Amino acid sequence: MQSAATAKATERRKGFFGEYGGSFVPPELQPRLDELAKALDEAMADPGFKKELERLQAEYIGRPSALTECCNISNKYGGGRLFLKREDLNHTGAHKINNTVGQALLAKRMGKTELIAETGAGMHGTATATVAALMGMHCTVYMGAVDVKRQAPNVSRMKALGADVVAVEAGQKTLKEAVDAALEAYIQRPDTFYLLGSAVGPHPFPGMVRYFQSVIGIEAREQFLQREGRLPDYVVACVGGGSNAIGLFSGFLDDESVHITGVEPAGRGIETGEHAATLVAGAPGIIHGFRSYVLTDDDGEPAPVYSISAGLDYPGVGPEHAHLKDIGRAEYVSVTDTEAVEAFSELCRMEGIIPALESSHAVAHALKILPQMSADQTVLVNLSGRGDKDLDSVLPLLGLA
Ligand SMILES: Cc1ncc(COP(=O)(O)O)c(C=O)c1O
Repeated sequence: MQSAATAKATERRKGFFGEYGGSFVPPELQPRLDELAKALDEAMADPGFKKELERLQAEYIGRPSALTECCNISNKYGGGRLFLKREDLNHTGAHKINNTVGQALLAKRMGKTELIAETGAGMHGTATATVAALMGMHCTVYMGAVDVKRQAPNVSRMKALGADVVAVEAGQKTLKEAVDAALEAYIQRPDTFYLLGSAVGPHPFPGMVRYFQSVIGIEAREQFLQREGRLPDYVVACVGGGSNAIGLFSGFLDDESVHITGVEPAGRGIETGEHAATLVAGAPGIIHGFRSYVLTDDDGEPAPVYSISAGLDYPGVGPEHAHLKDIGRAEYVSVTDTEAVEAFSELCRMEGIIPALESSHAVAHALKILPQMSADQTVLVNLSGRGDKDLDSVLPLLGLA
């Protein structure tokens, strides 16, 4: 039996990954997060919730997503063999739908009728608008005005699905400002459910998003074992807030033989300061109500960040990744815009797959390590989304527009 003091300490540690995570929010928000945490615990313990989630994963999202070997690239680059976990084939074209289906089910269970969300690349906004339509809820999506322009196809999709898209004009007009605006709206309007799109934010969001995204790692591990009779040597995923990465990594954390790598955006180069490589170049701090690595300016405020990829330019990162970095269980590297665009083109031309610019960062890292691997070694990359949304930005860079 725990003493009262120990029980309190345990409670305080809830939502922490090592020294990261937690809940650092205005007092008026804490009761709503407590209510959410309680509802999540109850839902996870309810077989009916799990059954409905599994039904929607199969019938609506189209899971399991495929595992694809990229033989042409493996032959060209020499060394090891490349495999992709095809989250781009999910309904709405990215891993984001895994999380929105789960959270919307929870919102419905809690009796909420309106979803609010932030979005960078627009994939999470689209996935939220989609589940809002499915479950008969109203949906408002906050998106930086810069992202509204560079991810126009997704703005059209959200509108067609019936969502209100609010262009946020503050600051850099990208993902951080969209999160600020969505959080503000959530605080102002107690009747809403904040459907957070990545493994960030105060407790219980990081653990909840990991739970709904863990289907990626569970499937990938099973599929790989079934196909190859062994585990991959390397697993690789891009890291913005870190949800697709933690979804994949969670399936392999206990497998010591598997080398785990998260890939952050180096933008125009780490040395230029124009990047969003939070774990590679940041330091511990607090952002948006949780403790993690943060990129800060001279005043200690979240720094302006940059990446060609709208889904990766966030000055914070999920707290579990911060912990995995500190304990050395995962390594975090960075890839520049130019390398990501080259990888984008390689996957299009060599394999007939158009990847999201976010996912192209992970592919770029795999292309770097493939030639150094031996012929019996394998690398599994999470292809977190499809790249139709990025064609307008990428084609001019490839001299094709
Ligand atoms: C296709 C795709 N991949 C990756 C990300 C990055 O998010 P996360 O790090 O939470 O997976 C995004 C974000 O919008 C995305 O749209």
